[in-house]
Amino acid sequence: MSTQSLYPVSPELAGSTKLNDEQYRKMYQESIVNPEGFWREHGQRISWFKDFTKVRKTSFDDHNLFIKWFYDGTLNASYNCLDRHLEKRGDQTAIIWEGDDASEQRTLTYTELHTEVCRFANALKSQGVRRGDVVTIYMPMVPEAAVAMLACARIGAIHSVIFGGFSPDSIASRVNDGQSKVIITADEGVRGGRVIPLKANIDTALESPDVTTIEKVIVLKRTGNEAVKHVEGRDIWWHDLMALSSEHCEAREMDAEDPLFILYTSGSTGKPKGVLHTTGGYMVYASMTHEYVFDYRDVEVYWCTADVGWITGHSYMVYGPLANGATILMHEGVPNYPGPSRLAEMIDRHKVNILYTAPTLIRALMAQGKEHFDQLDGSTLRIMGSVGEPINPEAWRWYYEVVGKSRCPIVDTWWQTETGGCLITPLPGATDLKPGSATRPFFGVQPALVDNLGNLIEGPGEGNLVLLDSWPGQMRSVYGDHERFVLTYFKTFRGMYFTGDGAKRDEDGYYWITGRVDDVINVSGHRLGTAEIESALVAHPDVAEAAVVGYPHDIKGQGIYAYVTLNQGVEQTEELRQQLRQWVRNEIGALASPDLVQWAPGLPKTRSGKIMRRFLRKIAADEVGALGDSSTLADPSVLDSLIDTRLNRA
Ligand code: WTA
Repeated sequence: MSTQSLYPVSPELAGSTKLNDEQYRKMYQESIVNPEGFWREHGQRISWFKDFTKVRKTSFDDHNLFIKWFYDGTLNASYNCLDRHLEKRGDQTAIIWEGDDASEQRTLTYTELHTEVCRFANALKSQGVRRGDVVTIYMPMVPEAAVAMLACARIGAIHSVIFGGFSPDSIASRVNDGQSKVIITADEGVRGGRVIPLKANIDTALESPDVTTIEKVIVLKRTGNEAVKHVEGRDIWWHDLMALSSEHCEAREMDAEDPLFILYTSGSTGKPKGVLHTTGGYMVYASMTHEYVFDYRDVEVYWCTADVGWITGHSYMVYGPLANGATILMHEGVPNYPGPSRLAEMIDRHKVNILYTAPTLIRALMAQGKEHFDQLDGSTLRIMGSVGEPINPEAWRWYYEVVGKSRCPIVDTWWQTETGGCLITPLPGATDLKPGSATRPFFGVQPALVDNLGNLIEGPGEGNLVLLDSWPGQMRSVYGDHERFVLTYFKTFRGMYFTGDGAKRDEDGYYWITGRVDDVINVSGHRLGTAEIESALVAHPDVAEAAVVGYPHDIKGQGIYAYVTLNQGVEQTEELRQQLRQWVRNEIGALASPDLVQWAPGLPKTRSGKIMRRFLRKIAADEVGALGDSSTLADPSVLDSLIDTRLNRA
């Protein structure tokens, strides 16, 4: 093994975790050679109402695609997260909550969480929500967000959580796609000292003529701002409903392949797609990965800093840890507000054992200086995770040394909304670490690299990252558009699931994710389609054409760089530039607002009119020395003009 920048399993760690290297290899081998037997055994980790006899039926053939797991079993996800723990850990804390303002603290035991979920499940029923209905959740990071999700699961409704940073337009299109009848929200959210007008955004979204299905809006009182609108007959207070609802609600018996939730995510084309996850396989996979990837031990305090609006919040804040009976820490705000020492303070205050966060936060903290961690005791911290984007080795080392005091292994977990749980990741105590590498596959996962023609690349090399066989947490469909599911993931390379990522494999078989190879960019760990941002820009009356690319950004990983061609006669002013940034913010959300807007009199196009993005990416990255062959461009001179006026110069 190349020793350059290798962090071998430390002698203190070896033998103290669930698995060592040899055990990992043995289990992995078994999971590939005998998947039936492997998953038959591990499928038992969750509670089934009716046990499954059929383990799996899967094929990635695009003409005959099926993905089914544990498919004759029945279960309930909320039962698995709550009821089954009550006897042993009813009094154990399930959720520790800390407000944006640290003076606000709450805890809920498993018994209390169970009661809240049952009550709210009855509340949903009283509003006409039935099995199979889609319920939209647009909530701040408060325990009620988890209550709402689990209550849906309890009665067999499908939740669709929308991240609180999305704009009314984005809400409208998602609500409409899911034909949702009920929305659960709060008057306002609080994040980093700022108020987020959640209910006002919902009100605006519901004014859209496209949204015709919503009958009820359930509103949690979070800030109590009196100015928040209340629409008679449509809006109902959460607390009023809860007061009327009984705390007894049986968990509904669901089929393993019944939908559990939809979560919208960006792709390289069109509108965000509703990624559909089902119940049995997802629960097995989320709970199993949570246990092994974080080496989770009974009654440890586990803190995932992701928002519930993302898949990480679903699998590793709610379903995985709660299915394992963990004590989760939930934070309303951001871990570097009001200052860079907030993260350290929270680790010590709540005696956090496992921390799971994103590279963008690490880089932001790094920029503010390690002295903010001088006061960190951190003696409880044992395992640290990273997710959402490639972690650069420099940030990895900082995380390892400053936050983990060179004691805690880092699990750099690669996965996607589509995969439901971690697919490529180190396991603590089993995997020697290399900063920047997500290392090796989890059990049952068969990654491979292919060239652009789909030929498998053997040994060390670089290519498109694909998966050769199914795993239980895999998405089952795009909600309402199964064709798009097949087309997006299984047509590029026949018989394989295409991830959209590129990767390298080194001589030790370790994977290094190099980033997206499609037109998806990753801004602060948030996934965005450049096509969505472009279509928002061209919807502006002054814009003729737009092309959006990512460029390297010190903190965010990637920033958003927009090339904009204005309509004839429109003046290129700084004011208009600001207006366009605000425009995208309104159309999609603040997360999609371009960092840089360059005026482009023309865009580099082929003679057939296709925009050649590779040039635009290079100019945005300030790599103008090596643009490559431009002879296929209709008008190569547009490049010179774009280079001359580029905005991101070293
Ligand atoms: C990227 C987030 C490198 C990748 C769970 C993937 C990563 C996309 C890593 C999915 C990682 C996620 N190293 N890249 N450890 N984790 N990615 O759907 O490009 O929001 O395809 O899921 O994030 O983003 P999503």
